Amino acid sequence: NSTPQLHVQPTPEAVLHDVARFFVTRARQAVADRGRFTVALSGGSSPRKLYELLASPAYRTQVDWAKAYFFFGDERNVPPTDAESNYRMAAEALLTPLGLAAGQVFAIDTSQGPAEAARAYTQTIQEFFGPEPAIFDLVLLGLGDNSHTASLFPHTPVLHEALPAAREVYVEEKQTYRITLTAPLLNQARAVAFLVYGADKAAAVQHVQHGSRNVEEFPAQLIEPAGELHWFLDVAAAALLVPT
Ligand code: 6PG
Repeated sequence: NSTPQLHVQPTPEAVLHDVARFFVTRARQAVADRGRFTVALSGGSSPRKLYELLASPAYRTQVDWAKAYFFFGDERNVPPTDAESNYRMAAEALLTPLGLAAGQVFAIDTSQGPAEAARAYTQTIQEFFGPEPAIFDLVLLGLGDNSHTASLFPHTPVLHEALPAAREVYVEEKQTYRITLTAPLLNQARAVAFLVYGADKAAAVQHVQHGSRNVEEFPAQLIEPAGELHWFLDVAAAALLVPT
């Protein structure tokens, strides 16, 4: 199905602008076609600058944010005030500056523990989309140097989850729980965009795209959306890809 489309730029700065333009285009298209734009945000450190860019005057004026609905692809098992919280990062960089209404942002509520967080978030998503399947207009993802994406970590049971849902996952290497959307849910998206930069990601990018299929080792290989698949890379992260 989804042949990846590569967008390689010379610098991380240029990659961020490339993704920001893509985000704006998809948002406008979704609002024109369906009257709203639904997006699942990624966490970690790479997307912070993207979110700040989207909130900056050049981009923020291009989207009708009142019609945008924000979800999270994964969350750490911490309160929303914690420095590790993906919600906190997105709120600081994008959601608060945009001045969104409460009903536009769907955070993963970790207050009752990871299993309850996952159960409740599955329900939140189901209720939002109603009887329709939960198809995000855009899913933003990052890539760890161990080829994880969202919180689909190597050798975890959640890699085998067949249902489109949110699930808790114990991440041995981090000695902590996380909450993640499952691959079947992420794969329902109209478009998935990976944002990856830096030389420390080059091997993972190569493994995920061209390594033999081994989803236990390279979980990002599970991302095969029904819609489009885009990779936004800087030259350093793309360095081990063989030109086709
Ligand atoms: C998270 C993520 C995770 C992230 C990768 C890459 O909560 O950490 O959503 O999947 O995208 O770990 O993170 P960096 O961009 O910080 O390297």
